[in-house]
Amino acid sequence: MESTKLGRTSRRTWFVAIGSAVGALPLLYALQKYISPLSIDHARTETIGALDEVIADGSRRELHVAGMNVLLARRGLDVVAIDLTCTHAACPLHVDESAGRIRCGCHGGVFDLEGRVVQAPPTEPLRRIEARVTNGVLYLRIPSGGTA
Ligand code: FES
Repeated sequence: MESTKLGRTSRRTWFVAIGSAVGALPLLYALQKYISPLSIDHARTETIGALDEVIADGSRRELHVAGMNVLLARRGLDVVAIDLTCTHAACPLHVDESAGRIRCGCHGGVFDLEGRVVQAPPTEPLRRIEARVTNGVLYLRIPSGGTA
């Protein structure tokens, strides 16, 4: 009888402890966001310009924006933006449109035009930059410092 009562007390204590811990998570998250400068999103949105003036539908072009080179590709109102910085050791990349490749002169890394690795040493695909078209204007969300 006594052991059953102790078991209930112990179970209740565990429920209260777990409930308190779960309830405190949002507060701890908010506190961490407030305290830690590393968690602040330093990215900024750059206005690139009228979409039709920046890039024709169905085409690709390179663009230098906010200290970084970006490859834009447009299909209709969808725009993909790829950071032309090699993911191996951050060298600048060269777009070879006729071969459908993006090449790195530093160590011979090769990517396809979607940014996927074709030839090592890079192992990571090229970074995508968030692109948005609103009311016919293209915006890019540039990470802090331009490059990762
Ligand atoms: S920096 Fe591009 S392959 Fe090494």
